[in-house]
Amino acid sequence: NAAKMWSGRFREPLNTTFEEWQRSFPFDWRLLPQEVAASKAHARAIAAAGILTETELITMLEGLDKVLATVELDGPKVVASAPNAEDIHHFTELELTKHIGNLALKLHTGRSRNEQIATDMRLFVRDAIDATVIALKDWALALIELAEASGESVIPSYTHLQRAEPVLVAHWLQAYVSMIERDLSRLTDARKRMNLCPLGSGAVAGATLALDRTIAAKALGFDAPTPNSMDATSDRDFMLDFTQTLSTLGIHISRFAEELTLYSTAEFGFLDLPEAFSTGSSAMPQKKNPDLTELIRGKSGRLLGAATTLSMLIKGLPLAYNKDLQEGQQPIFDAADTIAGILSVLPAFTRSLKFRATPMQTAATTGYLNAMAAATYLSNKGIPFRKAHEIIGNAVRLGLESGRELNDIPLSELQSLSEAFAEDFYAAITLEATLDCHDVIGGTSRPRVKQALQDARKRLSGI
Ligand code: ARG
Repeated sequence: NAAKMWSGRFREPLNTTFEEWQRSFPFDWRLLPQEVAASKAHARAIAAAGILTETELITMLEGLDKVLATVELDGPKVVASAPNAEDIHHFTELELTKHIGNLALKLHTGRSRNEQIATDMRLFVRDAIDATVIALKDWALALIELAEASGESVIPSYTHLQRAEPVLVAHWLQAYVSMIERDLSRLTDARKRMNLCPLGSGAVAGATLALDRTIAAKALGFDAPTPNSMDATSDRDFMLDFTQTLSTLGIHISRFAEELTLYSTAEFGFLDLPEAFSTGSSAMPQKKNPDLTELIRGKSGRLLGAATTLSMLIKGLPLAYNKDLQEGQQPIFDAADTIAGILSVLPAFTRSLKFRATPMQTAATTGYLNAMAAATYLSNKGIPFRKAHEIIGNAVRLGLESGRELNDIPLSELQSLSEAFAEDFYAAITLEATLDCHDVIGGTSRPRVKQALQDARKRLSGI
């Protein structure tokens, strides 16, 4: 029992099953880099407060560096190596003692594990945000590259999953770039909000030493110390922000995955799945399955799960620290690992996509996807749009009954529906005209899409 960080007031040993069950070291070992960084920052702060001499501080900092350098960050190995370590804080103290002896025991002066774990998790989440931002920007660039390479190829747009109007493939892909831009903004926003340092908050009421809290904050790259010790030791908003942001990102990724899964079917036939990212069937020799998009659609559910777990965990907690909070670590690790995994394959997969332009163009030009352009033609001739809509609806019905597209119907027949039809009608409902009549910011006309791609590229390079 003497090996514990808190054994003094206890007479009986812990129930061994309980002891093993309540440990967090089997998962929080991966916070070692954060724990060492936070400990070094705290060492500087207590040295400035006169608790450590300059030489002791140097020994302490070197010892902490040695801990990080000597521990092999391999989960099963490190956990097996320290069966007595209750958590990462205890483990680090035990390791530091191996290197610098009893001086290690001074490190805990004026601090509590409650502020430590709050700090470690902030550092972990901050790194995870930075890694996500880099990987996500790469996916956005991959989409932009694919959009640029797609030139003027078209795809039907759908509403209600019914063909609506033709759009440029580039326009469709850029819809995802817009989502990513919002995700990036949420991530950077969350980072800004969380970048305050809990060190010096103590167990709940503030450090019991007159620490200059700006020392540790600065050493760890935080903007300032947190303003309230009770909040700082029990606040996990930054974990909620992170997982909720990842949930939204996961939803976007999942929609992309769903579209590609659908478009790769024989029924759509819009793309050939890249073999390097597809798998076969052990039973059906002909199969090429979209496992990548299915898996990321599935894995994105874990991101939503993490956000839900954390919300449930925190909503009933009285202030301040409660041990329940220990349960918040694994959802964060899982969410960080899951998004890192997804984004490790998604950009390369995206860059390898090859669309099948002909079936896409056929789908985009059959089924009266130019009917809105046709109605616009009539309204440009001075017919009120409501009326124009009705006339083109009649023309569509004529086409449906006789198996013809609008452009197959001769002028004489159209003129029996309205005298406003003239020879220039056919030029107004070509594929190009149908695209280019959407000449507004955010529309699918060819020059607008080209401009939008350049604008998105520029915005991304500024992040
Ligand atoms: N392992 C603990 C956690 O993750 C560290 C904080 C423990 N604090 C305490 N008062 N028992 O929450």
